[in-house]
Amino acid sequence: MLHGRRILLCVTGGVAAYKSAYLARRLVESGASVRVAMSESALEFIGAQTFAAITGNHPVTSLFADESVSPHTEMARWADLVIVAPATAATIGRMAEGISSDLISATILAATAPILVAPAMHTEMWENRSTQRNIDQLRSDGHHLVGPNEGSLAGGDVGVGRVAEPEEILEAASSILEGDAGGRAVLVTAGGTREPIDPVRYVGNRSSGKMGHAIADEAVIRGYSVTLVTTSSLPVHPAIKVVSVETAQEMFTVVSDVKADVAVMAAAVADFRPAKSHETKLARSDGLKSIQLEATPDVLASVVARSERPYVVGFAAETGGVERAIEKAERKRVDLLVYNDVSEPGSGFNTDTNRVVFIGQDGTTESLPLLSKAEVAEKIWDRIASELNERE
Ligand code: CTP
Repeated sequence: MLHGRRILLCVTGGVAAYKSAYLARRLVESGASVRVAMSESALEFIGAQTFAAITGNHPVTSLFADESVSPHTEMARWADLVIVAPATAATIGRMAEGISSDLISATILAATAPILVAPAMHTEMWENRSTQRNIDQLRSDGHHLVGPNEGSLAGGDVGVGRVAEPEEILEAASSILEGDAGGRAVLVTAGGTREPIDPVRYVGNRSSGKMGHAIADEAVIRGYSVTLVTTSSLPVHPAIKVVSVETAQEMFTVVSDVKADVAVMAAAVADFRPAKSHETKLARSDGLKSIQLEATPDVLASVVARSERPYVVGFAAETGGVERAIEKAERKRVDLLVYNDVSEPGSGFNTDTNRVVFIGQDGTTESLPLLSKAEVAEKIWDRIASELNERE
């Protein structure tokens, strides 16, 4: 679950900071991409170079002396998960109050990703009413806590307040990132296929792949393990397994080997391809009177026909009313059809927005307003998650 995930490790000032070096190493070993932010007092306990060597990235140690003009928002936006380990009483207090007076608290305040806090302090400090009040506040704000444990503390003391072990933090991080996805595997197809006429020309369409890639990104954020079969080279989240294809036949072949609990078929697959693809470039002087076409395999139909049929989402990019799409939802036997009118402003190919209508298995429709493609992806996953929950 940690493979390819972007983890921001915030290290604050306590002797347990040395354990965060091992935590960083275990995160890296698990395949995560790790960046580190350190408070001024953390630097009294452990050197930034230690984390640089382990993660391959120089830690950020100051709000003002960094290459980035806004390191706190930049790191916060990057992260899929923020881990605060060790979290001192002071940092926990600032989090509870929403104070952004230093690098770590400003980063945490800017983060929209989930936050996992591993407190570490002396027993008296942990048991203090104000700390407990702050911890209650963190819980009610939706933050996740791991530890503290009972054991040896700084200065030879023993009691509650010892930071959770790196393996415990790793496990908690994994389960937060998995969310409600329940280990489900997702297949997404995206982009427009290109069917070659000769080595230079092809029969294609205007699909950019933006919608499909946004759907794959959102699935990863929700903890699904995602395979994206795409003709597009748009960037995607590093945790996605990307298989690049060009033609409908390639897409069909690749998809047939991908196991999936949910399949979202957002690709604009050519229905026909040139029956003959010329091996060398056709010359104008040779003339070309016609191109003979033949049908391509139906990728979606092959997924619907599987004996272990996934939950299937189809797309219908049309240039007319929704009626044709309602008929298509039934004909294609999909669980959900996402219809859009590509002739409408803001809903066409290569735009960053889309206005879609959901068509359920029973033909019922739900019209969404004009949204960004990322927002449409969220709505699609809300709908899938709620239908999967109902089925269970
Ligand atoms: N699709 C597919 N393989 C194909 C054609 C379409 O997987 N060879 C999928 C698309 O990814 C989309 C859905 O089927 O999710 C509907 O695609 P569309 O082109 O609208 O459907 P068609 O079968 O081409 O229907 P029609 O030509 O009647 O509109």
